[in-house]
Amino acid sequence: MTDSPSRSGVFSRGSDKRLEAFGESISFDHRLFRQDVKGSIAHARMLAEQKLISGAEFQQIEKALREIEGEIEQGAMPFRYELEDIHMHIESALIERLGDVGRKLHTARSRNDQVNTDFRLWIRGALDRIDELLQALQRAFLSRCDRDLEVILPAYTHLQRAQPVLAPHYWLAYIEKYQRDRERVRDCRKRVNVCGLGAAACAGTTLPIDRDATARELGFEQVAANSLDVSSDRDFVLESAFVLAMIAEHLSGWAEEWILWSTVEYGFIKLPQQFCTGSSIMPQKINPDTLELTRGKSARVLGNLQTLMVLVKGLPLAYNRDLQEDKPPLFDSFETVEACLELAIPIVAQAELQTEAIASRLDQGYLDATTLMEHLILRGIPQRTAHHLVGQLVGMAQEGGFPLADLTDEQLKSAHQDLDGSLREVLGAEKAVKAYQSYGSSNPDQVRSQIRRWSEQLQ
Ligand code: ARG
Repeated sequence: MTDSPSRSGVFSRGSDKRLEAFGESISFDHRLFRQDVKGSIAHARMLAEQKLISGAEFQQIEKALREIEGEIEQGAMPFRYELEDIHMHIESALIERLGDVGRKLHTARSRNDQVNTDFRLWIRGALDRIDELLQALQRAFLSRCDRDLEVILPAYTHLQRAQPVLAPHYWLAYIEKYQRDRERVRDCRKRVNVCGLGAAACAGTTLPIDRDATARELGFEQVAANSLDVSSDRDFVLESAFVLAMIAEHLSGWAEEWILWSTVEYGFIKLPQQFCTGSSIMPQKINPDTLELTRGKSARVLGNLQTLMVLVKGLPLAYNRDLQEDKPPLFDSFETVEACLELAIPIVAQAELQTEAIASRLDQGYLDATTLMEHLILRGIPQRTAHHLVGQLVGMAQEGGFPLADLTDEQLKSAHQDLDGSLREVLGAEKAVKAYQSYGSSNPDQVRSQIRRWSEQLQ
């Protein structure tokens, strides 16, 4: 009978082929093979130290597991649905090589603590890769800061022109967002990096194992304290999916912004052509497909989080087979976010601001109105009054179709007797930017000091 090793003994009939195809996870959990081998070697070494197997048996097991790992690496191991998952593929290959010695590896272990351990090891490595990519993206934004130091851009609220800022103020805003993402990655890693191996199926084991030893060898920082919890816990999967969803949200918002900025209507940015595509019918088109796909793929990453939240909802303790469904969504989220980050990095580094087009329209939209209002406050006019006065001035300027700086002295006076031409010291985008004072604002000195801080931090 070429049946699943998990069905031996009590079963008198083989499994239905339809169940095998329905229940297999090897088509996706083969990604865990390195972690499964690593976990099995640590487990076997501990079994030997605890005299549950002999030293010679451990050596045979270790050698065979490394050979099996090499075979899978080269794609030389055929995957068979009747062996269900990566754990049973590797164990069966071991038994094929070593016979009874191979049959000892699963002592004091269940696939329930095994899969938990493998997945945690895999996620730990994947989170570290995401952290590196996020850092590379922050560096790409930082690399733009000196290049674009003199450029002034409109800041928007409600997608309406609001106030002028330095271009690096935008880049620093993204660096802050990705820094929070990195902090979430590292914080999540702490809860991922906990060892469940030795919880066995759900209640622990009567055998004298040493859980600290396996945890230490596998680089886990903590040993999980409750076997029922280990067997059922997928918080670390859900939390990773959330961390990735936040990154995808940030990428999607940025992609949307730069798609807008790359239009003729904005004319703020030229995207690197190697990341754009053309149209089969409109010869002039250069389409921002990479950014659109980044925005679009975020939908899958957000959906994966939802899938996982619903998957785990209402499961009683401890392991339930539903939990096997946790892997495709999380693998997909990691793969998608990694691919998006890998493309975002060169796009951020290489895109070019259209400085002349930006500058030529900075006097549109009354970006300096708020600065003017605050200037009036400094002259002792109450905020509500100043707001009203500047609103009136904007109305006059709008009627004439010119910027605030072009209002005549008479027009200023007509709004309020104390207003005169000296107001012009804060009018115009450049002067308005220089007038900012507060910490975190787009004041040029503030921006320069933030650039210095990040240069040190991201070295
Ligand atoms: N392939 C399974 C999973 O991913 C491994 C654990 C199976 N455990 C069990 N008791 N059938 O969840």
